Amino acid sequence: MLKLGLNIDHVATLRQARYRDYAVDHPLAEPSPAAAAKIALAAGAHAITAHLREDRRHIQDADVALLQQLGAPLNLEMAVTAAMVDRALAVQPRDVCLVPENRREVTTEGGLGVSGQLDRVTRAARSLSAAGITVSLFIDPDEQQIRAAKAAGAPCIELHTGAYANALAAADRDRRLATLRDAAELAHSLGLQVNAGHGLNYQNLPRFIASVPHLDTLNIGHAVISRAVYSGLATAVKDLLGLLGWR
Ligand code: PXP
Repeated sequence: MLKLGLNIDHVATLRQARYRDYAVDHPLAEPSPAAAAKIALAAGAHAITAHLREDRRHIQDADVALLQQLGAPLNLEMAVTAAMVDRALAVQPRDVCLVPENRREVTTEGGLGVSGQLDRVTRAARSLSAAGITVSLFIDPDEQQIRAAKAAGAPCIELHTGAYANALAAADRDRRLATLRDAAELAHSLGLQVNAGHGLNYQNLPRFIASVPHLDTLNIGHAVISRAVYSGLATAVKDLLGLLGWR
């Protein structure tokens, strides 16, 4: 059965909007990604995914340490830089997903251009693998990139599903799905583990998983945290009204 890696970055984004200048373990600094991760794991999430961006705009180094202390599988997303590889070697997450990073983007935009920087990606993948970390490369569903991921020695890829998720016209969506299906088939035939993520939500997920074979883990964040706002709000309001005496 497919596994869920819950991307917890959005919880940190909310905290940073208010408490950017506070330590992550300050009692006021809520919501806590580690506390949210604990709830998600208790609810059955198989792993926690966190993107430690170079600009530390949401997840902080101290968050990563707290997430690692939970003892659950941690998938650390990061840019392909020597500094980030060193961070990962210090943290020792179970998995690292190498992603492209652009400081101005709202979220990761395209897949990693592995074929254009094969030596660099290979070096990073080698260092991480030597430390027992499972390396995944976040790539577009593109034959050249899949073959390059294999050449780089990564055992795993994460297919970028953003173009499928963003496609509103039925024909475009069908075309994107077919591309993802072919990409998953190719990656599987090369012996790569196939993960996927970006923009997957409660509406587009059923068709995606029915159409794309060989998937192991889906990394999903925004849709789950958004739904948590809706599904948790009634309880939060009632709890507050209770404090006001409206019981
Ligand atoms: N996988 C990767 C590599 C990502 O960069 C992201 C976004 O941070 C996700 C999965 C999750 O995307 P979303 O938040 O749209 O579910």
